[in-house]
Amino acid sequence: MSTAQSVVITGAATGIGRGITECVLKSGAGVTAVGRREEPLRELKDRYGDAVTVVAEDVSAPGAAERIVAAATEAFGRLDAVVNNAGLARFGELETTDPALFDAMLAVNVRAPAELIRCALPQLRAHRGSVVNISSVGGALSMPGRAFYGASKAALNSLTRSLARELAPDVRVNAVMPGPVDTPMWHETGLDGAGTEHLRVGLLASTPMGRFGQDTEIGRWVSLLIDPEVSGWVTGALIPVDGGRTA
Ligand SMILES: NC(=O)c1ccc[n+]([C@@H]2O[C@H](COP(=O)([O-])OP(=O)(O)OC[C@H]3O[C@@H](n4cnc5c(N)ncnc54)[C@H](OP(=O)(O)O)[C@@H]3O)[C@@H](O)[C@H]2O)c1
Repeated sequence: MSTAQSVVITGAATGIGRGITECVLKSGAGVTAVGRREEPLRELKDRYGDAVTVVAEDVSAPGAAERIVAAATEAFGRLDAVVNNAGLARFGELETTDPALFDAMLAVNVRAPAELIRCALPQLRAHRGSVVNISSVGGALSMPGRAFYGASKAALNSLTRSLARELAPDVRVNAVMPGPVDTPMWHETGLDGAGTEHLRVGLLASTPMGRFGQDTEIGRWVSLLIDPEVSGWVTGALIPVDGGRTA
């Protein structure tokens, strides 16, 4: 990837997004890092300087996508790739989960990525760029107790495949489906401590590699998908990076 490339990464400052940011920066690109909280973004900026520009936005807010694309093109003069990583994960069974949470997950996990792709399209087309959506194995597997989250990620997978055809050959659209990765998300799912522990033990048992993944193990795949020299003929792919959980 040339130093001139510019990549928007949502949810860039923590968890999987942080791993993606580190890997993409290593490839030489400039990163526009998006998140709601200013502090982790500021920490990223302090650490990486001019290679990073930060945008404090809720990706689901009206007009956020336009502002993110404008910030990226102003900072780096172009935009080559969008990584839709910001996500909302709220777990619970159908009968006890507030349907408003389903709306919130669809807004952040599906609608916001679509809107960001739409706003970035002129730039992505101009540079023969690409999109990487961070989905989940939950979009491919049955998800009892997490049906709304799974449905939102299945919708993101569908969006990925449809847009890959719709935007080809100008813009490539792929998704990575992570298995369980240790991130702050695990403390914000709405489950209590015992419920979280029960879920984590079950996930470990159903992951052949016998461990949770690391954020940079996702980030390296994202970096490869963005790189046209490696992935110029890859579009519409839903790539499980999951310790074998979907095997
Ligand atoms: N961890 C896993 O096991 C796992 C497995 C499969 C898939 N995933 C997916 O991987 C992605 C990253 O998850 P993670 O585990 O790294 O979670 P995380 O550590 O909670 O990170 C989520 C990031 O997204 C940002 N974010 C959340 N909502 C946002 C919004 N509305 N607008 C802007 N930024 C927002 C958060 O920052 P702010 O709070 O500052 O906004 C945070 O930096 C998600 O799409 C998740 O569904 C995770």
